[in-house]
Order: sequence, then C-alpha cells, then structure tokens
Amino acid sequence: MSQPDSAENPTARGEALLAGGRPDEAVAAFTAALALRPKDSAAWRGLGKAQLDLGDQNAAKISFARALAIVPYDRYAAHMLASLSGPADVQATGYVADLFDTYADDFDAHLTGDLNYRIPQAIRALLAERAPFASLLDLGCGTGLVGAALSDLVATIHGIDIAPRMTRKAHERGLYRHLRTGDLLDSIANDPALVGPYDLVTAADVFVYLGPLEAIFAATATLLVPQGLLVFSVETTAGDAPVLRSSGRFAHPAAYIARLADQFGFTLDVTQSRPIRQERDQPIPGALYLLTRN
Ligand SMILES: C[S@@+](CC[C@H](N)C(=O)[O-])C[C@H]1O[C@@H](n2cnc3c(N)ncnc32)[C@H](O)[C@@H]1O
Repeated sequence: MSQPDSAENPTARGEALLAGGRPDEAVAAFTAALALRPKDSAAWRGLGKAQLDLGDQNAAKISFARALAIVPYDRYAAHMLASLSGPADVQATGYVADLFDTYADDFDAHLTGDLNYRIPQAIRALLAERAPFASLLDLGCGTGLVGAALSDLVATIHGIDIAPRMTRKAHERGLYRHLRTGDLLDSIANDPALVGPYDLVTAADVFVYLGPLEAIFAATATLLVPQGLLVFSVETTAGDAPVLRSSGRFAHPAAYIARLADQFGFTLDVTQSRPIRQERDQPIPGALYLLTRN
C-alpha cells in the first residue's frame, strides 16, 4: 500500500513545513494530526521540534515527553527531553553514541563532501604558525579528521570519543597514540593515560552535543600547561546561554564563551566567524575559538 502524501497526511505535511523553515504552520499541521490520532508519536516529535524552532522550550518538552511515552525506545525524544530538563547527563540516553556509530562508515565522505565540513583545516590554519606542539588531546575525535589535519604539527596525539565505531576508524589512521572510547568528562576523570599535561586541546564540532560547557572547561583547564591552547568550534546563536535546537544540537552564544573563558582562567585570543557545514543546503553559522590557558 502506498504512503499517503503530505496533502492528505497532516504529519507528513508538518514535516515538510518544518524542513522548509515554517515552524508556525508546522505546529498547526501537527496539531491537526494529533486531533485525528492522539497517539501518533511522529506528530508529537514533529510538534516538539516545531515548538523548539519557535523558541517555546516548555511546550517542546511536553511534546517530546508525550512522544517518549508512546515509543519508549525513541532515543531522539529521550535526548531532547533530557537536554531540555537541565544540566543532567545528556549522554545517558545513548542517542549521540548511536547516532555516530550508525554514521561512522559514511562520516568522512558525507561530511567533507556533501556537507562541506572544513573545521579541521580551519583549526590547522589557526595553529600552523604556533606549531610545533608536544601533545594534543582531541576531544570527540570522531574518525580522526583533526588528527589527520594536525599530524605534522604535533608529536603525540590522544583522542576520546563516545562512539566505538568512530574511535575504531580513528585507530585505523595510525595517528593517535592513545584512543579512549567513552564520554569526555568520564574519560578525563578516570583514564590515567589522559591526565596530560597537554599543550593543545581541540574539540571540533563536539561541544554542540554537550550543551552547558562549564564542566568541560574546568576539566580542560586542569589538563593544559600554562599558555596551552584550547581550540574548538560551536554553532552560534544570540543570547547568553546555550540553546537546544531541533537538530538535537546546542548553539552557544559569544557572550557565554567569553564568560566561561573568564571564569576558568583562559584568555580569548581568536574568535573567527565561519560556517560549520551545510544543513538542508544552507550553511550553519558558527565560530572557531582559540583560547590560551593563563
Ligand atoms: C560531528 S563529530 C566531529 C568529529 C571530529 N571532531 C571531526 O572534526 O571530524 C562529533 C563527535 O563528537 C562525539 N561526541 C559527542 N558527544 C561526546 C561526548 N560526550 N563524549 C565523547 N565524544 C562525544 C561524537 O561521537 C562524534 O564522533
């Protein structure tokens, strides 16, 4: 039997409106879908996304909770609910690890090809004139694109990633001396091979999965030597606190990064506005930061 198209299926119409950047109309479509089928979990998910795109976090939280109550193994809904429920452990749902495990085989080709991801090269351009470095800890190393971009600038490279298939890919490059599969904070706290000290820490397109960054800034400050560098990218937004997007990723305002730098003993040396990559054929606005530990 063929699927009903979006003209006769309000959930499909809501998805199309969301993808087209029309969240207010998407809310109406999902609401109509739920009036017909109150247990349509896809409509609750869609409604949550549209509400989030409109900035209504409280309503979105209720919608994701409804989706999760209907489909308890929905990891996206669990991730969104956890992320909207405060600074609890957003990794506990397993959503991020699953997402990247599924993606690992296609990651390099898709990200650097279709999605035009160039953050590792931009990090290299920032660091080349400051090289050489004795030791790098690559946070959320993924398949090792940052290690590959910096391998001739750094003597020893260590990496951490939560997705086992991503660290396996990084291992295959033969560039990382120690690779740890696990959550960043947990690995830094518990792996004696990762205590440093490092003169460089990178996090390329990783803080988008963490939300609040206080804990990782505090941990990084203890790993770096004085004058050591922390380089990372974020998706940008206005305001002064991290914001969860319907993509499942967080955006971080410049004012928030400046406050963290101050709070955790860093000097903010470089802020570079640049797109992170493409999404739905549009560039995602972002920034690359270089901070020096005082
Ligand atoms: C978009 S990829 C970027 C990978 C790599 N840094 C690069 O530039 O190619 C984000 C990576 O961060 C990892 N990640 C996200 N949250 C994490 C966490 N809490 N602990 C460890 N790794 C995490 C993901 O598994 C994924 O491999």
